[in-house]
Amino acid sequence: MIATHFLDLLYLLGGLSFVLGLKMLSHPDTARRGNILAAIGMALAVAGTLFFHPSADTFSEEERQMKLILLYSALAVGGFIGWRAAYKVKMTSMPQMVSLFNGLGGGCAALLAVAELKLQFDHSGHPEAAGLILVLFTLFFGSVSLTGSLLAFAKLEDLVKDSAITLPRHTIFNLGLLAIILGLIGYTVWGAGHAGMTWGLILFAVALVYGFSFVAPIGGADMPVVISVLNSCTGLTAAAAGIIYDNLVMLVGGILVGASGSILTVLMCKAMNRSLANVLVGSFGGTVSGAAKGPGDQTVKEISLTDSAVLLNYSASVVIVPGYGLAVAQAQKICKELDTLLEANGVDVKYAVHPVAGRMPGHMNVLLAEADVPYTKLYDLEEANDFIKKADVAIIIGANDVVNPAALDDASSPIYGMPVLEVWEAKNVIVMKRSMKSGYAGIDNPLFYHARTKMLFGDAKDTLQKLVAEVKAL
Ligand code: TAP
Repeated sequence: MIATHFLDLLYLLGGLSFVLGLKMLSHPDTARRGNILAAIGMALAVAGTLFFHPSADTFSEEERQMKLILLYSALAVGGFIGWRAAYKVKMTSMPQMVSLFNGLGGGCAALLAVAELKLQFDHSGHPEAAGLILVLFTLFFGSVSLTGSLLAFAKLEDLVKDSAITLPRHTIFNLGLLAIILGLIGYTVWGAGHAGMTWGLILFAVALVYGFSFVAPIGGADMPVVISVLNSCTGLTAAAAGIIYDNLVMLVGGILVGASGSILTVLMCKAMNRSLANVLVGSFGGTVSGAAKGPGDQTVKEISLTDSAVLLNYSASVVIVPGYGLAVAQAQKICKELDTLLEANGVDVKYAVHPVAGRMPGHMNVLLAEADVPYTKLYDLEEANDFIKKADVAIIIGANDVVNPAALDDASSPIYGMPVLEVWEAKNVIVMKRSMKSGYAGIDNPLFYHARTKMLFGDAKDTLQKLVAEVKAL
């Protein structure tokens, strides 16, 4: 009895730490502590379950030993893999890792649902409809999350090409699968009687196929949005499992993941000015093409390192626009060095951060915080577009889609309607990248041929290092 109360207390502390941790994650200054706090809460919940969960009392000693061996082995192997993966993962590969971990979470919930289904049909031939629907809901969303996330992982890792497994009328195929799934749920609950377990397993198999098929036609710049949708599915699944097992910490954790995943999905869609339906059935982006072709006979103007250094150093205001390329090159620290140097020479330096710059939400903010760029120097889209107009130089470091004017003036562009940083309004524009290749959305960027734009080709880190040396030499 005391053990049960103690477990409830640990679950409560765990739930509280998730809420506070999530709150702290919303600011770079407190994010690290928030993460640690939530991890401690999770550790408390896991330890509490291992040592105080009353179900352990119902097993014979031999069964208990066996289950504990299995449990601790799984914890040791899973913990080791998770720890190594977290250490080794690059910031640019975080979406893949989130997808993989999320999928495994969904898979766990689906397996729990299978076990619960068996229990319900073993105990009473006709489980109560409401409880059964909840279990089948968990089974469905958990399975979709598992296979959908695994495919998303494979696509982001370039193990599978975006369009490799798309059928001619894929949306109709998916709608057909959904109709079958709804039919299976209905039949398992109300029609199958004692054979419900078998129909539940058929539902499990079809839901696994659906998860895979759901993600198959989506690609390019839409992948982070899909990962976020699947993330919220896992959250909802975990919350449903929390209700089934009357487990407070699972319920709270699931609700938080489900809600934050949904909010994130909405924010990303808003940042790209697209509806969720359009993301899920549309075909925005795609694989990155080769070199971008100049429209007509427009030419690209280059700028030397020395000229760039002079332009930057003798400007009154400079706006830095970081993008995915800055993250890949790990150029954030040297970027901050350039910023400090320019500020010391009287230049006002600000950063314009697009909400979907990089490959995941907050990507640029985290990188720049890592390099000790004060948060007060980072401006979001609307504010940034105001002061870019007055800036002497906008320097774009490894960004492409988020500064593409086609989003505003080319109705045929796949990114038409997406709010972008209007860098071409600055008096001078320097674009720092390695080649004329397109960005994640795989489309040409007219900015590169704009009258005010000059290209500074090279790897972001290497170029910035040389630029810092040039500014020092002035
Ligand atoms: P991108 O459009 O992907 O452009 C990045 C550019 O960086 C590329 O054109 C590339 O050109 C350059 N680059 C790559 N490695 C480099 C290096 N080592 N040094 C210098 N440059 C390098 O990036 P973005 O402007 O940040 O836009 C993000 C994209 O992701 C958008 O399409 C957005 O919709 C999508 N997306 C993001 C999110 C979130 S939440 N972040 C969510 C959904 C979608 P070179 O190869 O020529 O160097």
